[in-house]
Amino acid sequence: MAVSLNHTIVLSKDKVAAANFLAEILGLETNAWGPFIRVHTGETDIEFMNIEDSAWNDHITPQHLCFLLSEDEMDVLLKGLRRHDVQPYEDMFYEEPGVNNYYGGRGCYIRDAVDGHLFEFITAPYEGKPANIEKGRWRDPVDPTAVGA
Ligand SMILES: [Fe+2]
Repeated sequence: MAVSLNHTIVLSKDKVAAANFLAEILGLETNAWGPFIRVHTGETDIEFMNIEDSAWNDHITPQHLCFLLSEDEMDVLLKGLRRHDVQPYEDMFYEEPGVNNYYGGRGCYIRDAVDGHLFEFITAPYEGKPANIEKGRWRDPVDPTAVGA
């Protein structure tokens, strides 16, 4: 059996609103399970939990979650973002509004409307170097043993 990520917990100040936002823009379903509101994405459930129910953290640290979509699902997403008046960005620094094509498909970044989590959506998984690297602040990996690194 291949290893896969079964679920992750994302802290929220309003788990219902957060789960509903993500599910609505992606055209997905939610369900309540224990202290969580789950959004089912492929093999991984995103489990939103209210910060006051968390025993391990007293504040929300923005998390980065990246979702791999089909091209049709990306169309659904972009319509959902327009409905919610959420600006997609080409880059992870939120400097260039729009949708990128760094890896042969489409990709964009948003801040989620409820808690400011950093969501990314791509239609092609990362491989090699991105196209348009001057826009993405791409940096080649640095060899920490190199002189002057
Ligand atoms: Fe990412």
